[in-house]
This record gives sequence, structure tokens and C-alpha cells, in this order.
Amino acid sequence: MQRPNIKTELPGPKAKKWLKMDKRFISPSYTRSYPAVLERGEGVWVYDVDGNRFLDMTAGVAVLATGHVHPEIVEAALEQMKNLIHMSGTDFYYPAEIMLAEKLAEIVPGAQNRKVFFGNSGAEANEAAFKLARFHTKRPYVLSFIGSFHGRTYAAMSLSGSKSIHHKGFSPLVPGIIHIPYPDPYRTPFGVESDKVSDVVIDYIENIVFKKLVDPEEVSAIFFEPIQGEGGYIVPPDDFFKKLKNLAEKYGILLVDDEVQAGMGRTGKMFAIEHFGIIPDIVTVAKGIASGFPLGAMIAKSSIMDWSVGAHASTFGGNPVSCMAAIKTIELLEDGLIDNAAKMGDYLLNNLKKLMERYEFIGDVRGKGLMIGVDIVKDRKTKEHNTALRDRIVNDAFGMGLLLLGAGPSAIRWAPSLIVNKQEIDVALEIFEEALKKA
Ligand SMILES: Cc1ncc(COP(=O)(O)O)c(C=O)c1O
Repeated sequence: MQRPNIKTELPGPKAKKWLKMDKRFISPSYTRSYPAVLERGEGVWVYDVDGNRFLDMTAGVAVLATGHVHPEIVEAALEQMKNLIHMSGTDFYYPAEIMLAEKLAEIVPGAQNRKVFFGNSGAEANEAAFKLARFHTKRPYVLSFIGSFHGRTYAAMSLSGSKSIHHKGFSPLVPGIIHIPYPDPYRTPFGVESDKVSDVVIDYIENIVFKKLVDPEEVSAIFFEPIQGEGGYIVPPDDFFKKLKNLAEKYGILLVDDEVQAGMGRTGKMFAIEHFGIIPDIVTVAKGIASGFPLGAMIAKSSIMDWSVGAHASTFGGNPVSCMAAIKTIELLEDGLIDNAAKMGDYLLNNLKKLMERYEFIGDVRGKGLMIGVDIVKDRKTKEHNTALRDRIVNDAFGMGLLLLGAGPSAIRWAPSLIVNKQEIDVALEIFEEALKKA
């Protein structure tokens, strides 16, 4: 069985040179956790510029659904590149974009009568959803959740509520956005019991927001992540989205489901919202959709996508190479990778839960499929975040050749490619436990 192979100190001599140049030329706003300077990838393995081999449990931040450089993705992209790299779907037509739109319209929850807008990223998909919701409903207000992350452009940033640093210095933000508590069953809103979180959030929207802040008839949409990603891999209770849907329908408010991180098979279903049994009005996807090629999509009921010619567009959105990579990605997901995510996810979740018996500082292990968070706490009773210890564990794992990332103030996220197998998970778990022991 292949294992990580760390042959140099980290960072190694070549990496050090790149890091120096990076410091000189790259925006200091990037959030690197450790000095991994990567050159080549294959499956769940990735090699740095000094030839060190790492086991990648991040999938390039939940992007590489089919792993690094999956041969069929490379072939699909190359084939397209030989014919047409760009033409701009905004002003011209080409089959790749139309074929992918048809496929997305077919697989999205509720299916039938869907239309697709293409951008290049999750933020762009959410910007499009935000604009469409306001345009279609003619209502100015939008609700989104505390702890959510929807991207870095102005509306997407304003919708987000996971870290104040994302907003600091950028005000005034886009007006008309009201943040509401997320139904986190672990650190519950207002300290209620876990089984009460759905009701307390619905009650807060209806009796505080709609009665004291804004009339529901002025609210166009509620944006949500079916499982919060950057906020800390938080899974809401099973009944929450049904209750939210009832509320939204009562007042004619659209539900916008941000599947950018949780979607495309990662949770063991094509879309994470399928775990919760509701049909959103608008779904946004990016990250895993094209196995690493930049692409974002906003998929809406056709009756909602009623904006006029010229209202919204993107030069690069729906790039033909990205679209062909996405079509192949979806094919691979449907041909077994979603099932693998469900199976391997259960295996990983159960084994991470077992670690809780041995390590008091693990406060919670939660997730669905291959979207799993391990929450590091100062004290299991108070559930106080232990950010410093979390960062140390992630850093020590890197030193031993295992790539992980944090999410939120104290979670360690496990988001490997959906091709990961049991042996690779066993190796990752073994190294992870070494890092826990050290901690
Ligand atoms: C749920 C969610 N929405 C939107 C985004 C923004 O995506 P992008 O970075 O592609 O703009 C992210 C990125 O992490 C995300 O996790």
C-alpha cells in the first residue's frame, strides 16, 4: 500500500524558493495553513516540488471530485481543447454548454423545467442567484445564515456570515441582507436542546425577523448551505429544511440552496439537499462540478428565470473545456463515485467517531458522505473552540504527509476525492491518530 513519503524537511529547499517568490508577488489575503508547494497529483496523492508525496484529504478544498488528473477527465478536456477552447456562451452557442445545462436540469432535485446560468465560480453562481431572486420577486430583502459562506464577491460576501475578517474593511456591504441563526445541533442557537434547534430558528424567522425587522412580503429569498462548509462542517437536523420550506411557501419566498461545497456527490447523494427531502427553487454549484476546471452554475426553475436579454451574463462562464470536464465528472459520479462517497464516508465517520473514545479534546464528529468535520474543543462540556490545538493537529499531519484543512473556528475538515478507497482512508486515519497523540 502506498504511503506518504516525506524525504526532505518541510518546506524543502525548492519549496522554500517558491515560498519566497510567493511572498513577494502573491496577494497576502490568501489563507494558506501550511507551506505545501505542489507540483503534480494523481488520484488522492499529490507531490510537492521537492518530490515529497502527500495523501490529500482536501481534494483541493472539496473540488477534485474524481481525484487529481483523472484520465477520463483529462481526455474529455483535451478532446474539447483540440476543437474549441473558448467562444463565449454569452454571445454564441456551442454544444458543450447546452449539453451540460440539459444534464444539470435533469439531475437537480425536482428536475424538469429548469434553466441554467453559467459562471466560473461559486461566488458567481451565488451572485447570479441573488440577482435573479431580486429580479424575479421584485422584493429587496434576502435572509442568509450566520456561519454561512457564499463567496468573496460583494453580494456573496455580504450573504456570508462565517468570519468577520471576510467583511472587515469592505463596508458598506450590499444592503438588504438579514442574518439568522443556523440550526447547529452541537452549539445550538440560544443554548436550546439539540432537538429544539429547527423550531427555534423557524420561530426566530417568523416572530422576530418577520414581525420586528422586515415584512415577509418584502423578502425575496433565503440562501442556505444544506451542510455548512467553511462555517465548520455543520449538519442541520433532518426536519429543518422541510420546516423552512413550509415557511418559505407560506410567504412566497424562494429557497436558494448553495451546493457549492456539499454538492456533486460529496455527501453520498448528488445534491446534499436530497438528504432532507425538499426541492429548492434555485440551486448553485461549483467546486466539484468539473473536477478542477473552473465552472459555476445557477440552476433555477424556468418560471423563475424570467430575466430579460442582457440582464446577466459572463464572458468565460460555461467555458466549453470546463463543460466537457463537468459532463464527464457527472458521468463518473453516476457510475459509482456517489455510492463510493456514501460507503467510504460511513467508514471514515465511524472510525473518526471511535477516536472520540481516546481523545477528550475531540468534541464532535459529524458529517455526511465524504464531508466530515472533527471538532476540537477545550472542554467537552463547554464546547469551547480550541483553534490553536486544531491548527497544530493540521500542521503536524502535514509534517507526516497528510493534507487536511480546518473549517470554521475549530473543525478539521475531511473532504477527500470521491475515488478514495478503504486502504487510503486507513493510512490517513493512522497518520491522523499520530497527530492527535502528539497534540
Ligand atoms: C458553500 C460555498 N459557497 C460558495 C463558495 C465560493 O466559491 P468560490 O470560491 O468558487 O467563489 C464556497 C467556497 O468555499 C463555498 O464553500
